[in-house]
Amino acid sequence: MNISVIGAGYVGLTTAACLAEIGHTVRCADNDEAKLALLRNGQLPFFEPHLEDLVRRNSRNGRLRFATTEEAVVGSEAIFICVGTPPLENGEADLSAIANVARTIAQRVTGSCLVIEKSTVPVQTGQRLKRQLELYSTRGFHCDLISNPEFLREGSAIEDFFHPDRIVIGVERQQAAERLSEIYRPVLEQSFDCPVHQNCSVKKNPAWVVTDTNSAELIKHASNSFLAMKISFINMVADLCESVGADVTKVALGMGMDPRIGAAFLNPGIGFGGFCFPKDVQAFVRIAEKSGCDFNLLREVEKVNKRRIEHFLEKIRKELWVIRGRKIAVWGLAFKPNTDDVRFAPSLEIVRALIHEGATVKAYDPQATEKARAIMPEVEYCASPYEAAQDAEAILLVTEWPEFRAIDWQRLRGVVDRPLVIDGRNALDPAKVAESGFHYVSIGRQPVLAVPNVIEGEPPLRVDGAASTR
Ligand SMILES: NC(=O)c1ccc[n+]([C@@H]2O[C@H](COP(=O)([O-])OP(=O)(O)OC[C@H]3O[C@@H](n4cnc5c(N)ncnc54)[C@H](O)[C@@H]3O)[C@@H](O)[C@H]2O)c1
Repeated sequence: MNISVIGAGYVGLTTAACLAEIGHTVRCADNDEAKLALLRNGQLPFFEPHLEDLVRRNSRNGRLRFATTEEAVVGSEAIFICVGTPPLENGEADLSAIANVARTIAQRVTGSCLVIEKSTVPVQTGQRLKRQLELYSTRGFHCDLISNPEFLREGSAIEDFFHPDRIVIGVERQQAAERLSEIYRPVLEQSFDCPVHQNCSVKKNPAWVVTDTNSAELIKHASNSFLAMKISFINMVADLCESVGADVTKVALGMGMDPRIGAAFLNPGIGFGGFCFPKDVQAFVRIAEKSGCDFNLLREVEKVNKRRIEHFLEKIRKELWVIRGRKIAVWGLAFKPNTDDVRFAPSLEIVRALIHEGATVKAYDPQATEKARAIMPEVEYCASPYEAAQDAEAILLVTEWPEFRAIDWQRLRGVVDRPLVIDGRNALDPAKVAESGFHYVSIGRQPVLAVPNVIEGEPPLRVDGAASTR
């Protein structure tokens, strides 16, 4: 099918490349000329595992091309809208990019086509979008408006496209659902050559969930808000564990074994960030408010999340006593591993607060350095975790990249000024860190003292005197 995808960001470019990979002819558009120029040159504007291969292969075979929105929409049988919906000052979603795209579609497209809203939008946006398209139509254009919220996760976006749990679509009539299912057929039937896994065994047919457009839009906001609530919940449990001398890892493990609760999203830390959760929770609260529902529960979720940064900074102050003049290493800047996205990343607030208090910060991230440098030029960026830790009086683990779990602790011990690790993601093995002579502080668990001389076979002692478990 001839498809256009508007917006070449994390969602749009992934969608465009994956649709081309399963056999469609795709034009991907963006209003950012610089981004288009990069893409036409075979370069990606951001990092996402496997995406570069897909873009290159499908550009070469002619199934994926890059264009302006005006060019891309003409002659399309289906148009996916994947532009950004950032938060306004009052927390509502800014829908201006969607409105601009709607106008271009209405003025350029003739005949009929599917218009598929993939951006995360407030409930009833689809209905309004349909009205806009009709209002501005100048060439006898008819469309089926479909809400098709996106659930991909940055860092595993390609995998999520090919192996989703569910594809949710909101339609006004059944024929539209049937046409969209044609586009997704290889994914629904898992009948593609998997570009992610060799000898792919993941093949599990996703659920095809058909609803009305309002419900589809709500499914997306309600899902993200629920996950954010889980994170804030376990973060509060972590605080309680710190106060009473319990271990949140064990509490979360025990809780997560209950299938009604599930183990996912029970990892305590410095809170959620990124381009989705913070803005989606805010927008959901505003949607509820405007509809006369007081969703106070979610306001608390936001408040708990905002306090996580201060909670982490307090831990740093407690360990270092005075921040001014300290050399601090920050490991990880991206809002989560396997992406270079630093939008609303907790690292930004943490680094800025430390610099404001007079610390010198050296930072390392495997992928996000350039994105971070563009907005925080005051930081010294390093090429390795060891370089960042050189002469440091504290190492802060802010993003749980797998590479930090594979650190050579003995080597690290030789470069730091003071062996102190404050793990904001509970990503490290406390015993292993302490065995290398580091004092280890994490979230919702008792600090573990550095072990200068470990007696073979004995686990290190925790400060509360209880033996730690591995
Ligand atoms: N990033 C995620 O993990 C994720 C997951 C699910 C849903 N979403 C939702 O998908 C949407 C897009 O998110 P993203 O992370 O891809 O954003 P993004 O900022 O990476 O990409 C948006 C792109 O749209 C382009 N754009 C903006 N206005 C335009 C216009 N008028 N015409 C053409 N292009 C325009 C921008 O230049 C940008 O390249 C948002 O609503 C987001 O909430 C994101």
